[in-house]
Amino acid sequence: MNTPLLAARGITLALRERPGTLILNDVSLVVPRGKIIGVVGGSGSGKTTLACMLLGFVPEAMRLKSGQVLWEGKNIQAMDAHTLRHWRGGRVSLSFQEPASAFDPVFTVGDQITEMLMAHGGNGRARAQEKMLEFLALAGVDDPRRVAAGYVHELSGGLRQRAMIALAVCTRPAVLVADEPTSSLDVILQARIMALFRTLRRELDLSIVLITHDLGMVQRLADATVILVRGRVVAGDHPEAQALLSAGGM
Ligand SMILES: Nc1ncnc2c1ncn2[C@@H]1O[C@H](COP(=O)(O)OP(=O)(O)OP(=O)(O)O)[C@@H](O)[C@H]1O
Ligand SMILES: [Mg+2]
Repeated sequence: MNTPLLAARGITLALRERPGTLILNDVSLVVPRGKIIGVVGGSGSGKTTLACMLLGFVPEAMRLKSGQVLWEGKNIQAMDAHTLRHWRGGRVSLSFQEPASAFDPVFTVGDQITEMLMAHGGNGRARAQEKMLEFLALAGVDDPRRVAAGYVHELSGGLRQRAMIALAVCTRPAVLVADEPTSSLDVILQARIMALFRTLRRELDLSIVLITHDLGMVQRLADATVILVRGRVVAGDHPEAQALLSAGGM
C-alpha cells in the first residue's frame, strides 16, 4: 500500500485549563497525493484546530493527549527544528481563515510573496519577483502587477483570498491546508475559488485539505470527506451532518 503524504492518527487535544474538555477527540484523516480531502463542520467543531495540528502546531491553550501527525509515514514530532521549519511552508502550507492575517499590513503583497520565494526556493530577488507575478496569475489575479504593488487592506475580499493562495502555494508545497477559503465570499467568487483549486491540483500536483462548513460544496469537489461534530468524526448520515448540507446548499 502507498504511504499517504500526510495523515493524522487519533488526535486527541484537551484544553489545558480544563483537561476534561476535548477539542478534538480521536480524529484521524488521510491525505493522499494529488487528492482533495474535505473537512466539514459547524462553527466551533474544531476545524481550525485540526488545520493547526496538520501543520504541527498545538494551539497554546491546548495539550496533545494522544495521536500523531505523520508526513510520508514519519511522525513529524521526530523532525528537528530546522527540518520542521522548512517542511512548514515548503512541503505543507496553510491558507488562513482570515486572509488579512496572512499578510503584514506594512509591506506590499508582492514583496511578501517575493520574500517567501527567496526564503524557500533559494531564488535571487529578480527571479523571485518574476515567479511572484506568475503565481499571482496562476491564482487567478487578472492584473498581477497592480495587485503586487498593493497592501492587503487595499484588496477586495476575492483578491485577498487569491493573493493568500498565491502566497501559500508559491513554494510549491505538496499539501495545501485551506481553512474556510470561501466563507467570506459571495457565491460567484466561491465558485471561482473552487475552480482555482481544481487548477492548482492539476498544475502543481497539489493535495488540498479543504476546510469548510458547506458540506454540499465539499461533496462536489472532494475525493473524500471528514465530518466533524464537536471535535469528533461522524458519519454522513449523522443528523448534524445533514444540517450542514441543507445550510450550505447553493
Ligand atoms: N484558545 C482557546 N481557548 C479555549 N477554547 C478554545 C481556544 N481556541 C479554540 N477553542 C475552542 O475549541 C473549539 C474548536 O475551535 P475551532 O476554532 O477549531 O473551531 P472551528 O471549527 O474552526 O470554528 P469556526 O467555524 O467558527 O471557524 C471551540 O469550541 C473553541 O471555542
Ligand atoms: Mg475555524
